[in-house]
Amino acid sequence: MISYKDLGLVNTREMFKKAIEGGYAIPAFNFNNMEQMQAIISACVECSSPVILQVSSGARNYANQTLLRYMAQGAVEFAKEMGKNIPIVLHLDHGNSFELCKSCIDMGFSSVMIDGSHLPYDENVALTKKVVDYAHQFDVTVEGELGVLAGVEDEVSSEVAHYTRPEEVIDFVSKTGVDSLAISIGTSHGANKFKPEQCTRNADGILVPPPLRFDILAEIEKQIPGFPIVLHGSSSVPQEYVKIINTHGGALKDAVGIPEEELRKAAKSAVCKINIDSDGRLAMTAMVRKIFVDNPAEFDPRKYLGPAREELKKLYMHKCVNVLGSAGTVE
Ligand code: G3H
Ligand code: 13P
Ligand code: ZN
Repeated sequence: MISYKDLGLVNTREMFKKAIEGGYAIPAFNFNNMEQMQAIISACVECSSPVILQVSSGARNYANQTLLRYMAQGAVEFAKEMGKNIPIVLHLDHGNSFELCKSCIDMGFSSVMIDGSHLPYDENVALTKKVVDYAHQFDVTVEGELGVLAGVEDEVSSEVAHYTRPEEVIDFVSKTGVDSLAISIGTSHGANKFKPEQCTRNADGILVPPPLRFDILAEIEKQIPGFPIVLHGSSSVPQEYVKIINTHGGALKDAVGIPEEELRKAAKSAVCKINIDSDGRLAMTAMVRKIFVDNPAEFDPRKYLGPAREELKKLYMHKCVNVLGSAGTVE
């Protein structure tokens, strides 16, 4: 059993409390490799933001859970070396079983998500409570989910979405004891969040997605005032990256995300954790594709992963400063 406290990591409790009081959201960025980790930490150190490093089960399969945990431990030292001891959470994203959550808790994760959102309500309650009962013995915080997001990624997929039902949240939170609740109000996973027929088109022919359901968020906040709320599927799919990708041999059709102004508005409410993965993928892919096309003789991975990492850092700083409002919140 390894305690995250010995690794210099923190759980989400204190950071969520501050974020709700301060009207901002903590960035939850997914990572699978060293360059992503370096970009996340250097961006958050430079703009003085707390951060949640997220590991999906796809990331575990890709990079190995032990290595990712050592990288998070390294991230704490890396941040200190850069002169800022920012709070860093190591979080399991979309845990799908008690066993997976337990394994992460036992090896040093400070926070886990148990995603029972696809299960019948009572089964979601029972599974989430089981994880909470285990996690809380070690002061590990737990995120649960009510409502289903649409969208497809590696191991997180759903054809149909349904919004969170505000009338269920008090019961769910009190029966399970979760520390935060992910909700579904119209965000969606991946780079193609909406079908073109769900959107309108602006003057440049760019798809404009349907607005988030702030009415449902307000109703949820009324039911559980001040309780930490999480938004998944919150990439904005910057069209400049889509353009670079598509003009350098890529084929991303009708990629559309959540407008940043909507996320800024959500971050001012009890939404205190915002999950962003796809935008980072787009930034890296755009840079790598561009370098491959512009410099076809290049074969040193540092020459394309380095600029990709720089672009990623820029993107993450922009998120913290202009979207989530978390920049400048660490002394
Ligand atoms: O919500 C899912 C995350 O973006 C992780 O995606 O399962 O492809 O690693 P992944
Ligand atoms: P995006 O696909 O919108 O980046 O969402 C990521 C996410 O929700 C990770 O859990
Ligand atoms: Zn998610």
